[in-house]
Amino acid sequence: MLRQANTGVVVDDGPAGDVPASPAVLRVENLRKAFLSGSQEIVPLDGINFAIERGEMVSIVGASGAGKSTFLHLLAALDTPTSGEVYFAGNSLSTFREAELAKYRNGKVGFVWQRHHLLPDFTAAENVAMPLLVRGQSLSRALQLSREWLGEVGLSDRADQPAGRLSGGEQQRVAIARALVNDPALLLADEPTGDLDERNAEAVFELIERLHGAHHLSSILATHNLSLARRADRVYTLEHGKIAPGAEMLAATASPAAGVGARTPGGRA
Ligand SMILES: Nc1ncnc2c1ncn2[C@@H]1O[C@H](COP(=O)(O)OP(=O)(O)O)[C@@H](O)[C@H]1O
Ligand SMILES: [Mg+2]
Repeated sequence: MLRQANTGVVVDDGPAGDVPASPAVLRVENLRKAFLSGSQEIVPLDGINFAIERGEMVSIVGASGAGKSTFLHLLAALDTPTSGEVYFAGNSLSTFREAELAKYRNGKVGFVWQRHHLLPDFTAAENVAMPLLVRGQSLSRALQLSREWLGEVGLSDRADQPAGRLSGGEQQRVAIARALVNDPALLLADEPTGDLDERNAEAVFELIERLHGAHHLSSILATHNLSLARRADRVYTLEHGKIAPGAEMLAATASPAAGVGARTPGGRA
């Protein structure tokens, strides 16, 4: 709901009836996404209402195919909803022009995928520098910032290695540095530890927790791993198109060894 604040600035403090709290960094209203598969309609998101405040870490658990990736893609403006709205800092993404959307994707959101999506023939430093170059930074400044970030994720000594030669855990740390190099407000991570063994998964998750705190991020992590998910400030379950607080349903159905959902022993989805 738009209202005139004392300062004369028009602010959006949520739908009528909401308690006017500190405005959410990200808020979604009645978010719906439907896909057509042949003649069948698949509705992974069927009326989602959700908000995250600055500095919060929220995890989202759900079985494979529940719609976690779809949800994160809509939040990152990598896809558009069938209906409903995503608001960033009170502004509906549906009102953004293409150039504003590009700025939002590159500057406000850091996205980490399950597979790192690095360019294997480019060095770690070059991979991390890419979002800075997209924003128009000079190459020398971009590489300088990139090296600082590689230091932050503990990979100073790997900066000049082609990304394709790094270990899985190292690649994911480079991907995290690349996601954060533009100082985004939001970190969206889609099963960021899903491809890693237990030890590397723990190390990468710890890194995300540390960077989340140090950079005052608002972070949303989709994960199959309930014990990691529970370390967030809030846990939500995505199921049957709806999102609900807690992970009790999944805890009841998950086998402790396999985590949640259908996973192969190798840890791949
Ligand atoms: N581009 C697409 N076209 C058709 N169906 C899709 C598409 N993307 C996702 N889906 C379907 O939407 C559902 C949710 O997928 P997804 O968001 O990837 O789930 P999760 O990440 O929780 O495993 C699945 O049934 C999937 O097959
Ligand atoms: Mg997924």
